[in-house]
Amino acid sequence: MFFLTPVLVAVVCILILWIFKAADRSPEKKKGEPQTQPWVHEDLKDSSDLHQVEEDGDEWQESEEHVEHIPFSHTRYPEEEMVKRAQEFYELLSKRRSVRFISNEQVPMEVIDNVIKTAGTAPSGAHTEPWTFVVVTDPDMKHQIREIIEEEEKINYMKRMGARWVTDLRKLRTSWIKQYLDTAPVLILIFKQVHGFAANGKKKIHYYNEISVSIACGILLAALQNAGLVTVTTTPLNCGPRLRVLLGRPSHEKLLVLLPVGYPSKEATVPDLRRKTLDQIMVKV
Ligand SMILES: Cc1cc2nc3c(=O)[nH]c(=O)nc-3n(C[C@H](O)[C@H](O)[C@H](O)COP(=O)(O)O)c2cc1C
Repeated sequence: MFFLTPVLVAVVCILILWIFKAADRSPEKKKGEPQTQPWVHEDLKDSSDLHQVEEDGDEWQESEEHVEHIPFSHTRYPEEEMVKRAQEFYELLSKRRSVRFISNEQVPMEVIDNVIKTAGTAPSGAHTEPWTFVVVTDPDMKHQIREIIEEEEKINYMKRMGARWVTDLRKLRTSWIKQYLDTAPVLILIFKQVHGFAANGKKKIHYYNEISVSIACGILLAALQNAGLVTVTTTPLNCGPRLRVLLGRPSHEKLLVLLPVGYPSKEATVPDLRRKTLDQIMVKV
C-alpha cells in the first residue's frame, strides 16, 4: 500500500501536467484562427499564408526563373502637362458611380477585351498574376447566376448580414433582387487564384493574391469608366463556390468580385453620396 502511493502521486502529477499543456495549446490555436467576419467568407481566405506552404512541403515549386533585366522606357511630361493630366484623370474618375440600373443594350466586345487587358497590367505579388476574368454574355448563364445570387442574398439580408449592416445599406436602396444580372449585356466575374501551377505540375505560391486581384479590379473599374461604361462592384456573399462550379472554374480559384457591365438604363438613379475631401483622406508627414 505504502509502495503504491508514490506511483499514484506520479501518475496524478503526469495527468495534471498533461491537462495544463492541453489547456495551454488551445488558446494559442484560437489566437491564430480568424475572428468570424461574415464579409470575409471562409472561401476567400488568402492562402499566401506561409504556414500553409510549410504544411504542404514538397508539393510546392521552388522559384527558379531567370529573367533578363532591360532598360526602362519612360515618358516624362512637362510639369504643366502633368498637372493637367492628373486633374483630368481625377475629373474622369470622380464621375464614376456604382450603377444598379443597367440597360440591355449590347456593348462592343473589343472594349471588354481591352478593359480586361488593362486590368491584367496590374502589379502582383512576385509577378504571379493570380487572376481569372470570366466574361459571361449568354442570357441563360446570366439568369442562372442571378438565381444563385438572389437565393443566397435573400438569406444574407434576412439572416447572415445582421441588423446593423442591413440598416447601413438602406440609403443605397439595395436588396436581394438583382435585375441587372439579367439586363447587363456582360457580367465579369473576377476570381483570385489562391495558388498557381508550375510547368512540372507542382503548386506555385501566389503571394498576396487577394491584394493583387483587388488592385486589378480597381484598374478595371477605371478602364470601364474611361470607356464610358458603367458597373457596380458586387461581392456576392456565400455565392462563390456555387458560381465557381456553375462556371466550371477549378477549386483553387475563388470568386472575389462580380461586375455587371453595360450602359446605364434611361431611368437609372444613384444615391446622392458625398466623397471625403482631400484633407479628410490625406495626411502629409
Ligand atoms: C468591396 C465592395 C463591395 C461592394 N459590394 C456591393 C454589393 O454587394 N452590392 C452593391 O449594390 N454595391 C456594392 N458595392 C458598391 C458600394 O455600395 C459603393 O461603391 C458605395 O456605395 C459608393 O458609391 P459609388 O461607387 O457610387 O462611389 C461594393 C463596393 C465595394 C468596394
